[in-house]
Amino acid sequence: MSPTILVTGGAGFIGSHTCVALAAAGYAPLILDNLGNSDVRVLDRLARIIGTAPRFVEGDVRDRALLDRLFREEAISGVIHFAGLKAVGDSVADPITYYQNNVHGSFVLTEAMQAAGVRTLIFSSSATVYGDPDSSPIPESAALRPANPYGRSKLMVEDALRDLRRADPAWRIALLRYFNPVGAHESGLIGEHPQGKPNNLMPFVSQVAVGLRDKLSVHGGDYPTADGTGVRDYVHVMDLAEGHVAALRHAEKQPGLVTLNLGTGQGASVLDVVKAFERASGKTIAYEVGPRRPGDVPAYWGDPALAESLLGWRARRGLDQMCEDSWRWQQGNPTGYA
Ligand code: NAD
Ligand code: UD1
Repeated sequence: MSPTILVTGGAGFIGSHTCVALAAAGYAPLILDNLGNSDVRVLDRLARIIGTAPRFVEGDVRDRALLDRLFREEAISGVIHFAGLKAVGDSVADPITYYQNNVHGSFVLTEAMQAAGVRTLIFSSSATVYGDPDSSPIPESAALRPANPYGRSKLMVEDALRDLRRADPAWRIALLRYFNPVGAHESGLIGEHPQGKPNNLMPFVSQVAVGLRDKLSVHGGDYPTADGTGVRDYVHVMDLAEGHVAALRHAEKQPGLVTLNLGTGQGASVLDVVKAFERASGKTIAYEVGPRRPGDVPAYWGDPALAESLLGWRARRGLDQMCEDSWRWQQGNPTGYA
């Protein structure tokens, strides 16, 4: 029988793609999601890709009674914990909500896991824990100095999980620090559809390409980078999804805690992304270079060598494929799952 993996936040962007990778690897994903930032119709799409819809429980990861029931009734062998809030600006405006959801939610989950004797946990951290790094590529050993409540909520959970593992060596934990997840499943059936105006670059560019927005505002053209625009490590969401499966397999083999960057190890500028998206879509992306966005870092990318040596994982999909897959999703679903 396929081992059941509880996927909190599994209806969301990265979680839904990870359900595809889990099913392909012979696991049975069980999604727990409160649908606060996702659409239940993703389940039909997942059924079309996987063959059967993953099991789904609508609920909140902070609901201890619900978690206890799930762990009692289901033979859950491990947990991938995506559930959380991720908008940096909102976290500055409403920090307690962020700490409540991201930190308290993770604590309720780990308490329930401890009580149930389930000690395999893959946690969604973020490269945002590095803040403005001294240099790139960033190794996992770099200084941790997140610059906003969202980033601090991730670091708090990382710290707590490190302490938990010290207190109880039976835990098997992977802290995965994602760089910039983009793209969509190659079928074009699932993808990212932010509510309202997108904050992030790739969804904004694809909304310009499909005609939902007039033009991209490039946040700063005077950075000390090759073309003056910000540089990031964009990583295809299916590569990221496969990284979770690799981390889960590693945790199953070996107790302990690992902290891993998941990125490509390569930086791309805003204009590199614009050009790649134009190639992928055959559309012209209108843009205008405006002022820098407050809080933005000029350039960073990750060092993924540790993930490769420990997990045998590395990102295989390049920027062109990220744009082609985003475009297929965007074109087929201009209003998301609606
Ligand atoms: P997402 O918003 O698409 O997915 C998160 C899911 O969690 C949503 O479906 C939401 O409804 C659900 N959720 C939120 N709070 C919940 C709660 N208390 N109980 C149950 N469900 C809850 O976001 P995503 O991009 O898929 O990100 C997944 C995780 O990865 C998050 O923890 C995020 O912080 C982290 N992360 C994301 C990025 C990124 O750029 N997308 C980068 C680094 C880290
Ligand atoms: C943002 C978050 C970060 C999160 C990451 C995940 C902030 C400050 N940081 O990072 O915590 O982990 O998303 O993907 O929000 N850009 C434009 N025009 C736009 C949008 C973005 O020029 O309309 C530029 C940005 O200035 C940046 C690059 O595109 O140089 C990428 O931006 P974005 O997609 O928002 O990601 P990050 O800023 O890296």
